[in-house]
Parts: sequence; C-alpha cells; structure tokens
Amino acid sequence: MLFDTYRMGNISLANRTVMAPMTRSRAVDHNIPNALMAEYYAQRATAGLIITEGVSPSPNGLGYARIPGLFNAEQVAGWRLVTDAVHAKGGKIFVQFMHCGRVAHQANLPGGAKAVGPSAEVCPGEMWTDASGMQAHTAPVAMTADDIATATTEYATAAKLAVQAGFDGIELHAANGYLLEQFLNANVNKRTDGYGGSAEGRNRFVLEVAQACVNAIGADKVGMRISPHGVFNGTGPFEGVEPQYVALTEKVSAMGLVYLHQLDHSAMGAPAVPTALKKLLRNTFKQTYIAAGGFDAASAEALLKSGDADLIAFGRPFLCNPDLVARLQTGAALNEPDMSTFYTPGEKGYTDYPALA
Ligand SMILES: Cc1cc2nc3c(=O)[nH]c(=O)nc-3n(C[C@H](O)[C@H](O)[C@H](O)COP(=O)(O)O)c2cc1C
Repeated sequence: MLFDTYRMGNISLANRTVMAPMTRSRAVDHNIPNALMAEYYAQRATAGLIITEGVSPSPNGLGYARIPGLFNAEQVAGWRLVTDAVHAKGGKIFVQFMHCGRVAHQANLPGGAKAVGPSAEVCPGEMWTDASGMQAHTAPVAMTADDIATATTEYATAAKLAVQAGFDGIELHAANGYLLEQFLNANVNKRTDGYGGSAEGRNRFVLEVAQACVNAIGADKVGMRISPHGVFNGTGPFEGVEPQYVALTEKVSAMGLVYLHQLDHSAMGAPAVPTALKKLLRNTFKQTYIAAGGFDAASAEALLKSGDADLIAFGRPFLCNPDLVARLQTGAALNEPDMSTFYTPGEKGYTDYPALA
C-alpha cells in the first residue's frame, strides 16, 4: 500500500509516503529560500508529498536562526526555485507555516519584529543564536485582540503568497509548542478573554486562522498538524486535552481541510499518544489522515493496512536518504542521520547524503 498512488483532495500523489516538515536553517540571507534549498527538496521529490520545513508567515514568527519566511516578494521568488525544482521531478509540495510565537530570541528576529504569545510567560529553556550561542528565550508580548487579528491576516496573506510561489498547498503547524499550539495549550494560554479560559476559547485562534486560510486559497489546499499530549516547548498535559482536540478536529473536518497530520513523538522520548485517541481523531476527521513519528517500512505498511491512516510521514529517514522511497521499496539499508548538521548552514549534512547508485 505504501507505494500505491493516492488521491488527496484535488491532487494525485505518486505514493503514500510524506516527507515530514523539518527545520534545516539554511535560509542564510534574510530568511530567503535559495538554490541549495531547491536542490535539497528536489533530491527528495520521489516522496508522495513533501511538507517543507517550518516557514514563518510573519516577521514576528522567525524565532529561530536562519529559518525561511513567506511574507515578501524575495521569499516568494526563492520558494519558486524550490517548487519548480520539485515539480520538474514530478513531486508535490506543501509549505508548513510555523509562527514560532514565544519560542524565539530577539537576536533571531529581524528589526522591528517581536516575540509574541497568548500570554507574557517566557518559554522555558534555551535556543541557538548565531551571535551569542545558546540563550534563554526572549520574554514574549501577550497578544492583544488587534495583534491576533493582524496575525490571522498574515497567515491568510502568506497562504496566497504560497499559491503564487507554486506550492500545492499549506500546512498550519498547530503542534510542537509554536504559536498555534501556544493558544491550544492550557499551560501556555492563560488568557481570560475570548481566546482562552475554556476549550472553546483556546481553539478559537487556530480555527480563525484555518478559516482565513480556507477563505484565501480553498480548503483543498489547507492541511493542519497537531500534537495532542506533546510536551515540547513548555506545553505538556492539561485537563480536558482530549475532548478539546476532538472538538477542534470536528471543526476543521467540517471546514473541509484537506488533511489532518497527527504526530506522536514517543520514539523521540515524548509521552505516547493513546491509540484510542488516534483512532478517534482519525474517525472524526473525514478527509485525508497522515500519521507521523518513528515509522519504518513495516510499521508504515501495517498502519495503512489497518485503515488507521491514509499517508505516513517520515522525518529523519527522509532527511538522510534522498532516495528513501526506493530504499524502502527494495529493502536497501538506510543512511544514518548526523545530528550535528541538522541546523548548520551549508551543504554538509544537507545535500550530500548519498543516494544508491
Ligand atoms: C531536524 C528536525 C527538524 C524538525 N523540524 C520540524 C518542523 O519544522 N516542523 C515540524 O512540524 N516538525 C519538525 N520536526 C519533527 C518531524 O517532522 C517529525 O515529526 C519527527 O522527526 C518524528 O518523525 P521521524 O521519527 O520519522 O523522524 C523536525 C524533526 C527533525 C529531526
């Protein structure tokens, strides 16, 4: 099944593998995508679907060093190199919108931009800055209702720019503790207005952003990634998490989002997502369901056969195997990922992983 074609919304995928979104921090010049990035993605174009690394829809969302954006003409032109290179090889590609929110350091943000969040609490932990190495996160500014409206418009504008840049669609990153999940998670969202205080309030910003993007480019071009039970970036468990995610899933399903991308980082040390919840979300969401986290060929095939997912996303295996699909298909050995070059600039550990002869 993994190597069968699949119809997702209005597009045909060559197989059921998805390259999971992975930040690679190679947008060295003003967060603009470049030819090296186009080469990296083109090398992996045999994936059924590529989801790009996290890309900020706003200057305020560029929390990490050297991550790309999609909010100006230079970035649209840069992304055009990427989408053309992938399409020339017959691949399909969605862009992941990752607004980092409070997962940010001021040194990584362009002039005039600020770290923002649902509340003013600093994200625990540290992050890399090119100027001064590891640093504590910058204290975020709690977003006003106007800030929320502005950010929502930024997502919708970026969605239109994504289509202009040649992407087949967008993925809203509502996982891993970035801005959208900062609103969803009761440990981070301490608001007392209509954007917090209850499950409905915490879901509101995500649903408004999703609706704005659907209005901008159509539901068949909008997917969403979620990580209920995730602990990354100071999120973690809270009372009522499961019913809240079921309600969110019901709403985005009714909105017609093209896919729901559910991730389980237990293979990376996070708490496991209960199987019952995965099945419930899968059955609640009526369009395409993508599962991610710790898959190999056998577990991917087994999950597809069980009917509990339509597509399987692979992260690290795609990072270090440009020809992952061929290797999975033939049972060939896989290259191992080199963690030391995950986020370093340049081609080492990026475009130089060997393909099979
Ligand atoms: C280097 C690296 C960067 C990542 N960056 C992102 C990201 O930008 N957005 C995202 O949603 N997930 C990100 N992830 C998580 C992956 O998409 C994926 O969920 C995770 O690697 C687990 O899948 P795997 O076991 O197949 O690697 C990243 C993972 C890695 C290894």
